[in-house]
Amino acid sequence: MSRIDYREVSQRLAALCAGEDDRIDIMASIACELYHADSRFDWVGFYRVTGDSLLKIGPYQGGHGCLTIPFSRGVCGAAARLREVQIVDDVNSFDGHIACASSTRSELVIPFDDARGVLLGVLDIDSDRPAAFDAADARALQALLQMLFAGG
Ligand code: SME
Repeated sequence: MSRIDYREVSQRLAALCAGEDDRIDIMASIACELYHADSRFDWVGFYRVTGDSLLKIGPYQGGHGCLTIPFSRGVCGAAARLREVQIVDDVNSFDGHIACASSTRSELVIPFDDARGVLLGVLDIDSDRPAAFDAADARALQALLQMLFAGG
């Protein structure tokens, strides 16, 4: 396995999730498809907005993730708070990074909304390789999340 083919994965997810309105089902399908599609991806999962400035873990693949992340903490918290993609080439140099696995070297976190522009959560992908992610990954994943959670 090497690099993900985003077009192929997007098409498969669109077919798998057609007519599905349960967000947990959709998150579980995305986590599974992404985790198995790219050898850079060592942890793939969701943190959902469940309360005031609070993220709770959602469907994921990989080792245990921490259960709760306030918006004030970690890479996931920063993505949710700032509503901006976070590409972290070296997690050890990110102030406040939450280490769920000591093997993690780099991280990509993407916030995503529903069709009305309400923040639903973040997609978190961790890699055991340094600087594993680039802007092309972020763009493709943003488009995927937009398609599946905001209807296009
Ligand atoms: N590293 C993340 C926490 C989540 S886990 O890595 C699964 C962060 O700093 O937000």
